[in-house]
Amino acid sequence: MATPRTRTRKPKAASPCETAGHDDLTGKEGADMPVIRLGYIQVRVTDMEEAVNHYSNTLGMKIMATGEGGPHMSPHGISPGKLTYLKAWDEWDHHSVVLEEGGVGLVKFGYKVSSADDLNEFERRVQRFGTTTQRMSKGENLAVGDGIRVTLPSDHVLELYYEMDYAGTETGALNPPPWPRDARGAAVPRLDHCLYTAEDPELDERFWSECLDFRAGERLITDPSDPELIGTWLFCGQTPHDVAVIKGPNGKLHHFAFLLEDWNAILRAGDVFGMDQVSIDVGPARHGITRGTTIYFFDPSGNRNEVFSGGYLSGPAFPPITWTADQLGRGIFYTSGEVNERFTTVVT
Ligand SMILES: [Fe+2]
Repeated sequence: MATPRTRTRKPKAASPCETAGHDDLTGKEGADMPVIRLGYIQVRVTDMEEAVNHYSNTLGMKIMATGEGGPHMSPHGISPGKLTYLKAWDEWDHHSVVLEEGGVGLVKFGYKVSSADDLNEFERRVQRFGTTTQRMSKGENLAVGDGIRVTLPSDHVLELYYEMDYAGTETGALNPPPWPRDARGAAVPRLDHCLYTAEDPELDERFWSECLDFRAGERLITDPSDPELIGTWLFCGQTPHDVAVIKGPNGKLHHFAFLLEDWNAILRAGDVFGMDQVSIDVGPARHGITRGTTIYFFDPSGNRNEVFSGGYLSGPAFPPITWTADQLGRGIFYTSGEVNERFTTVVT
């Protein structure tokens, strides 16, 4: 959007029963949602060669660049190692996954916003929220323009930016075929969302809704009579969720997910995972929350991935759905109604 944003969302003390981002369903406040999508995620891997094989051959991503990184690559003060940048076949921007050699777990994630004006507005709101923020300059991240780096209440590092070098999809923009003929493995088209853990999910939900105009599509609470927020699935566009937060240790990642076309693509991905002896966590299965279909699996370092498809269309007028903790199993895996201990305890 070209004009500076004049509306402001008033900070409020949300209770777990309130509907984050849904205090005005007339469509005036928050009708535009200028955060576009999860643009990239950077994770540590113990063995770069194994990790690259997983993301490029099993998942089908394209290697876009490799490098040594720089001081900006280590927001927690950890020395960066060798970096590999990968892109899924239907993504336009330069990369969506960055692998950092050494260890396991989340380094940071980046959400793309619509314009410099939006970035400035978000910076003001984030500072007003009381969250630590700093400016990042074009080139600090390979192929990424100016932005802000935010430390969330849950200690995760979030980067907001509005420009990344354009790479184009593997099918192009002129009379394109529906998929690339040379697609490898599960041929994931794009990065979709991530789910992280926070000691206080309600505080992070307030951050995403008050600072960035995300809306909660689904919320998991303890009990309607004595509600405490256990999890929240938030969207910024029309998907069921672009980020999700569940109660757990600060600074940790539960999984990040790639979007597939449909249930058949999920089953085919499962076949590829079997051929490549990928470590499966759960699935193929169907979620109650989001209604999506899924397989959870691990990369060779132990970072949990997901392939996800389906679910409903959300949007500005979508009212939140509530799940109670006694139905957690159905919420996560609707068919079985069961969640294994690994799924609820392993984070990286
Ligand atoms: Fe997910």
